[in-house]
Amino acid sequence: MAKVLDINQLVTHFTIAGKPYPVIRDLSFYVNQGETVCIVGESGCGKSVTTLAIMDLLPNNGEVVSGSIKLNEIELTKLNKKERNAFRGRDMGMIFQEPMTALNPLLTIGYQLTENIMLHRNVDKKNATEIAIHYLNVVGISNPKERLKQYPFQLSGGLRQRVMIAMVISVKPKLLIADEPTTALDVTIQKQVLNLMNKLKKDIDAGILFITHDLGVVAEIADRVIVLYAGRKVEEASVEDLFNNPKHPYTIGLMNAVPNVDSDHFEIKPIPGTFPLLTDDIKGCRFHPRCPFAMDRCRSEVPSELEYDNHHRVACFKVEEEYAHE
Ligand SMILES: Nc1ncnc2c1ncn2[C@@H]1O[C@H](COP(=O)(O)OP(=O)(O)OP(=O)(O)O)[C@@H](O)[C@H]1O
Ligand SMILES: [Mg+2]
Repeated sequence: MAKVLDINQLVTHFTIAGKPYPVIRDLSFYVNQGETVCIVGESGCGKSVTTLAIMDLLPNNGEVVSGSIKLNEIELTKLNKKERNAFRGRDMGMIFQEPMTALNPLLTIGYQLTENIMLHRNVDKKNATEIAIHYLNVVGISNPKERLKQYPFQLSGGLRQRVMIAMVISVKPKLLIADEPTTALDVTIQKQVLNLMNKLKKDIDAGILFITHDLGVVAEIADRVIVLYAGRKVEEASVEDLFNNPKHPYTIGLMNAVPNVDSDHFEIKPIPGTFPLLTDDIKGCRFHPRCPFAMDRCRSEVPSELEYDNHHRVACFKVEEEYAHE
């Protein structure tokens, strides 16, 4: 299976008050063609920063310090700004939480879709309009011809999100990045958009990197899952393995923090303690201050990521010891 996206030992910093702080620490993962990989973790763990690093859209005080980001085997971090820009929108497209980030309120849907298609697909206006109508159909928008004449404000949030998805996929990207695309939508519309993404996965054959803090969404959409804690990957597994056999205490904590609607009584066990600030200096495993199993070693050494059965990867000394005693 071809790796569309291949990230190795990525480190990014933010400079705050003149001092650099690591945000993403040694992150490695890949996305295969036709696969949906979810990155999940609490607010502030670095999900969006990861996507912005890939897209080369980090804010001015953010930078990729080291590591490799390959798109279809092309090393992006070595390219200049102009070369890098050429990839954005064409080979990799991004769907944001708020579609108005990407849509211009002053221009019609039709203008924005066709301009984008002409820019990236070398077709004339007439062809671009046909392609736009095709993709509005693909994302389930009825009366696409009429919609082309409308402005973004004339559409509901759910429809706007579909238009943005149509815009991104109409140029046939190899990688589709979606950063919390359903978080701002109500539950029914959220479900429809997730169903759409699942259907698209089969149609467009791109790799999908899907960001969410919601394990319910992960269960609906992921093939493989990366669990991020304070800038570090703590666990990686297929979606089945992650839910059937979570290994890292943080992942287990996240799962316990989800209300179980099937049981007679709602039981939510939030993870104790608070999520660290970027500027907090934590020695050892970044999760140890909140971990019920923390040992001396966890307070001084950073656990390496090890691979267990079924390509299940975990960075945790407790898991390491359990396996050593088996
Ligand atoms: N421009 C910035 N300058 C300094 N720190 C920043 C900047 N943008 C983000 N950060 C910090 O980087 C860390 C990672 O932020 P990021 O936006 O990637 O989190 P996230 O996982 O996407 O969270 P959420 O679920 O809330 O979207 C956070 O600690 C955040 O405060
Ligand atoms: Mg985010």
